[in-house]
Amino acid sequence: MFVSSYFTNYSSKSIFWFSLISLISFQLKAQNVVIPIETDKHILLLQTDEDNRLMTTYFGARLNTSGEYSEAQEMFQFDDSNAGIYNCAYTPAGTWNLSEPAIQVVHADGNPSLELVYDSHKTADESDGNATLTSIVLKDPVYPFQVTLFYRAWKRENVIEQWTEITHNEKKPVVLKKFASANLYFARKDVYLTSYHNRWAKEMQPTESKLVRGLHSLDSKLGTRAMLLQSPNFILSFGQPAAENEGSVILGQLAWSGNFKLEFEVDSYENLRFITGINPYASEYELKPGEVFQTPKLIYAISDHGTGEASRNLHSWARKYQVLDGEGERLTLLNNWEATYFDFNEEKLTALFKDASDLGVDLFLLDDGWFGNKYPRNGDNAGLGDWQENKKKLPHGIGYLVKEAEKAGVKFGIWLEPEMVNPKSELYEKHLDWVIRQPERPEVYFRNQLVLDLSNPEVQDFVFDIVDNLFTENPDLAFIKWDCNAVIYNAYSEYLHKQGIPQSHIYIEYVNGLYNILERIRAKYPKVPMMLCSGGGGRGDYELLKYFTEFWPSDDTEPIERIFMQWDYSYFFPAIVTDNHVTDWGKQPLKFRTDVASMGKLGFDIVAGHLSEKDLQFCKEAVSNYHSFKDVVWHGDLYRLVNPHENDMASLMYVKGDKTRAIVFNYLVNNRQLLITNEQPVKLAGLDPGKKYRIREINLYPETKSTINSNKTYSGDFLMKVGFNPDVSLRRTSVVLEVTEVN
Ligand code: GLA
Repeated sequence: MFVSSYFTNYSSKSIFWFSLISLISFQLKAQNVVIPIETDKHILLLQTDEDNRLMTTYFGARLNTSGEYSEAQEMFQFDDSNAGIYNCAYTPAGTWNLSEPAIQVVHADGNPSLELVYDSHKTADESDGNATLTSIVLKDPVYPFQVTLFYRAWKRENVIEQWTEITHNEKKPVVLKKFASANLYFARKDVYLTSYHNRWAKEMQPTESKLVRGLHSLDSKLGTRAMLLQSPNFILSFGQPAAENEGSVILGQLAWSGNFKLEFEVDSYENLRFITGINPYASEYELKPGEVFQTPKLIYAISDHGTGEASRNLHSWARKYQVLDGEGERLTLLNNWEATYFDFNEEKLTALFKDASDLGVDLFLLDDGWFGNKYPRNGDNAGLGDWQENKKKLPHGIGYLVKEAEKAGVKFGIWLEPEMVNPKSELYEKHLDWVIRQPERPEVYFRNQLVLDLSNPEVQDFVFDIVDNLFTENPDLAFIKWDCNAVIYNAYSEYLHKQGIPQSHIYIEYVNGLYNILERIRAKYPKVPMMLCSGGGGRGDYELLKYFTEFWPSDDTEPIERIFMQWDYSYFFPAIVTDNHVTDWGKQPLKFRTDVASMGKLGFDIVAGHLSEKDLQFCKEAVSNYHSFKDVVWHGDLYRLVNPHENDMASLMYVKGDKTRAIVFNYLVNNRQLLITNEQPVKLAGLDPGKKYRIREINLYPETKSTINSNKTYSGDFLMKVGFNPDVSLRRTSVVLEVTEVN
């Protein structure tokens, strides 16, 4: 493609630059480089064009003959002057490209043009041959500016991670105005996007729509708690709406814990361009010479057999390679938040330790309200930042509680919200310069609090020390719930100002500061389980899950709502990372609530001492059952059998890797009509057709009898073709089945 012909209206200075670029690009010999990014079943094929620009020429099922890869490019005959530009693998701005760019920069001399041509690439094997890491260096022919594209392809899991590194050797800083992680191109028509919209206690509400011509974007500008309104998770389905067991889909997320942006552009050929990365909103980044700017990762699973396979692959990848201790164990727990809120003392807590041990859970988790003396944390309007035990509530300190819990036979964990401060706190009085706020404007509060400036290394030390001191003083502390309840208003950093760093770095440096702290915590305390919480589900991304063992999906624990939410989270996250608690939300019986909470990591947030004898007996049995099957839920394969969005029922099944055991959870989700029964069998999945299985109902409420005959055996073949009727009805709204191989 000849570049200069596009720019007839430009100033003479620009024409000089563009002509120079064209001349240089023209003089570079076209290399026709073909770079396949391959998993076991899929390929993302990149190829240079006659101007040495890198293009995406094919994304789909793997080809049998790699010798034919180089033919792909020629098969696309775009016929106007935009031909071949939309599929650029990392689209620059300011030269030949007039569509949405992946990268936009202003060079040290003020010139806003960028061209990127192929320079070199290499591929290395990783993870015992299960992954390849390909890095491709693209360079501007005029400026000493380069971008390296990274693609890590996980073979067995058919998962790809994509990110970018940007660097330069110009005389002064270069301003990065846009810096995407990935720029994908799909030469596929009729693409459906499922995105997720959130509110507090209403997280992960899906919307699916066919993408139409033009640009559709999803983003967050909230700074912290970035997923409060929208989520960086997505499903793209090609040719038809996303289906569980058929169709081509890609499903994933941008793994970044701050402002994100996902842009879907259907171009004039009706193909899809997908560009995603940190949200460029208010985030121009001054990159110094020699400095490397690394973007977050786009992570996605690809499948030609629907969302079910894609999720299972993403889950196994996440457990094995991403989540902290993803293949390990988790602690069941009793939390006191909804049982006491801020109103507790040592006596109340030690009584709850006994409840925890009666229930049979592993740990007691002390929630918000344990700290602050000058400004005691007796409500959400004071004390945040003052991480000393409140002397009135806890005269003997945390150490005493850890010991008392131990005496009751349970471990002890604690809640923290270390990134935040209440204006009513000693921390605020002492360190106003540590608080993100506009000095000249009235403060704006979210839940009566403000956010600490994590771009400041002193603040990073302070946050690290909160955790470090707790562990140093209480080495037996077994769990941390790390909360984050406020968004960033009035984004302004006193620290950046003093350092002469532009304020537009604040959103990015905040997140980098958070990652720094977590790196330090994990270097010193590699194993201790930590729950990621953000006023419900405002945070839950794979970058943070490198440091956290689990996350809290929502404060909404009403079990019917929760079935939908857990269903929707399950597209992206394995059950082992989602924490579900039995609480008093809603009107469903205790059994229903407990069964729903068992589809993940089980916890309780009730006063067990107030339960009736039968309820307590039920809970104890359910916890003991849970301990017997948790391995299947945590480490097994998930099959979503009956979709509650489309049926009166929900049915989800977890199958052990060797197919000897499975747990099937079935629920009635519509009780408007009295006559609803489950006439149809539910087709099970993931079993071995040749094995024989027995099905037994578990988690029965005391003195109720199951309607399931557990003496019969069925082949896996029968259970997967004809199915099994769990007999869900208004009298049996929640049915948990254990499927066990019979030898
Ligand atoms: C947030 C969390 C809750 C609880 C409260 C405590 O809202 O989501 O689970 O910890 O904070 O203030």
